Amino acid sequence: MKRGNFLKKFLPQKTDYIAVDVGTRQTKIAHVNSAGETPMVISLESVNTPEGMFRSDAPEDQLNRFLTETFEENGIKGKEVIVCMTGDRVITRYVLMPRLTDKELAKAIQVEAANSIPVPMSNLSLRHVRLDGEGEQQTQRIMIAAAPTDVVLKYYDLFSRAGTRISVMDHAPLALWRVCFGMGEMGMETAAAIDIGASYTNIIVSRDQRLVFSRTLPVGGDIITRSMAETYSMEFDEAQKYKEERAKILTSEEAAMAFNPEDMQIDFSLRDGLSELTREIRRSIEYFNSQSGGNPVQRLIFSGGTAKLKGFIDFIADALEVPAGLLKFPVIHLDGQGQDAPIDPSYAVAVGLALRGARQFQ
Ligand SMILES: Nc1ncnc2c1ncn2[C@@H]1O[C@H](COP(=O)(O)OP(=O)(O)OP(=O)(O)O)[C@@H](O)[C@H]1O
Ligand SMILES: [Mg+2]
Repeated sequence: MKRGNFLKKFLPQKTDYIAVDVGTRQTKIAHVNSAGETPMVISLESVNTPEGMFRSDAPEDQLNRFLTETFEENGIKGKEVIVCMTGDRVITRYVLMPRLTDKELAKAIQVEAANSIPVPMSNLSLRHVRLDGEGEQQTQRIMIAAAPTDVVLKYYDLFSRAGTRISVMDHAPLALWRVCFGMGEMGMETAAAIDIGASYTNIIVSRDQRLVFSRTLPVGGDIITRSMAETYSMEFDEAQKYKEERAKILTSEEAAMAFNPEDMQIDFSLRDGLSELTREIRRSIEYFNSQSGGNPVQRLIFSGGTAKLKGFIDFIADALEVPAGLLKFPVIHLDGQGQDAPIDPSYAVAVGLALRGARQFQ
């Protein structure tokens, strides 16, 4: 037994984890306790992220004020938080390597990354994760994540100046895998989890409960909002509100029965916005399937705010010709009366980050 593991048995185990997922539209904070058999949500909070906050030219004082206020209002000032990087700044590679010791692997990863990532290594922070458990195989699949060092340092600095401490800088695909597949309830099939936010879509594929593929697409629910803004000559914010509160994609039966021209026009506008998003998702799934050795994706699990669009799940299952459903969170979440309460799918990444501390991942 390694010395660290030996000591761990005697030290009190930390069971409370707070995660912050700064999305381009909403910043989500998930507080999860993993002391019980099934982790339990203590709280879920969200705040609108100020427009353009993560553009490289965003004013730092505005960013600092937003984070400071958010952390103070949500009682996490002075606490440790788990975060991941927003957007598509992290480059991810999946490689097959011989079984190596930790030290050998760290060295081999440097060489592999230098060969496969077209950015000077001196500008990147590298992390790697062994995706296969202990086993007899001679080879092992490794995920390499590379992020620009200046951006990583900026996150640490921003969070620290806003009164929290980043305990772990995690990777969104890993968080999504944990919440969708990692808790052991999802069988051994090949399934994809797709989180559609406002500006980005994260796609992962899990097979035999192992992460085997991920991709971040620079497209999300904003594209639907823009389509509606154009159809109705509305401002973006107004169109977004209209989309969230009123819009619905009609099923073919509903479309055949619809006599209300407004419903038909909304449906048309939504489909127009969704066509590029659907095309991009289809392309990624088809790419994975073409590499999968005859073991294609059999099921789709959706999360992210855009998955809440009325009629979306039926629409996408139909368009991609794969069975689809909304994520069922593998955690306990009770309302004020102690009754089971559903979890908003836009919390998938935040809850997945907080699940890092669950015993399944120790
Ligand atoms: N009821 C709803 N119907 C349709 N769309 C919705 C609904 N609720 C939220 N959305 C859309 O979901 C998106 C926000 O989702 P989410 O909070 O997952 O994004 P984010 O994490 O902030 O963004 P990103 O991950 O792209 O940085 C927005 O485009 C919003 O309009
Ligand atoms: Mg998001």
